[in-house]
Amino acid sequence: MTRLVNISGHIVPAEQALVSAYDHGFLYGDGVYETLRTYEGIPFLLDRHLARLHRSAERIWIRWEELPVDPAEELRKALLAAANTESLIRIILTRGVGPFGYDPHGCGKPTLLVYVQPFEAPPASLYEKGGRAILVSVRRNPTIALDPYIKSSNLLNNILGAMEAHEKGADEGIMLNLAGNVAEGSMTNVFIVRGQRVATPPLSAGILDGLTREFVLGICRDNGIAADEVDLRPEELAAADEAFITSTTREIAPIVQIDRRPIGAGRPGPVTGRLRALFHTAVQATKAVHEGR
Ligand code: PDD
Repeated sequence: MTRLVNISGHIVPAEQALVSAYDHGFLYGDGVYETLRTYEGIPFLLDRHLARLHRSAERIWIRWEELPVDPAEELRKALLAAANTESLIRIILTRGVGPFGYDPHGCGKPTLLVYVQPFEAPPASLYEKGGRAILVSVRRNPTIALDPYIKSSNLLNNILGAMEAHEKGADEGIMLNLAGNVAEGSMTNVFIVRGQRVATPPLSAGILDGLTREFVLGICRDNGIAADEVDLRPEELAAADEAFITSTTREIAPIVQIDRRPIGAGRPGPVTGRLRALFHTAVQATKAVHEGR
């Protein structure tokens, strides 16, 4: 079981992984990131994660051509060196080392970090019993202030939401946007189920375009499950038959309580269960595609 970090091409054990105190990623959260996981050793949706990283980097004017190394190649090397059964991977790309001040001009090349560690699945109880969510007081920062398409290392908004949730004993904090509609969780996208129909806030609600969210919407399309991308009021979340959250690390996780009140029957529902099963089948199919079977 290995934890290591590939720092701009140099692989070191996690305990020895250091970056400069003058890296603007550290000084200002001036960087972008991706979280991935492997299934049977293969990074899941790798191309989509790299495309999103590329897009995030461009939107903060970190130029891909200036990267000291190729992220895909460094990820491959780090995974090979770690040789874990399953890995959690985090790629961080920062502005690089420079003097104080927000002006990036004094910065050298961007810093690229690829962290690899054994993947630890969330507790089984999250899937068996379902998780608890609360609506947190902090709102999702509006698109006009910080474009949610930038998967930025500057995560205070989400950290405050997650802290409020944990403080109140919940598994996830759900943020509303400035219009008062459901946006997303601190680290997840949110879905509800009404009857047999699935619904999730649209990207225009000011959310991260989660890759698991996109994958789940694809599963719905492929399996004739109606799925709407529509604005949701918090009352609609509370009145749903089922709810679930999605992310790379939690996959599809049922949410059975909102603000201490049960959602639907207060236990993981049948549509969520079906989607979880379809999700795992689709993951296997993706792997088969990857291996050219
Ligand atoms: N979280 N919304 C937010 C605010 C997130 O931070 C994440 C990802 C998601 C889900 O995105 P995806 O399905 O692409 O993982 C939604 C990851 C797991 C993280 O921050 O580590």
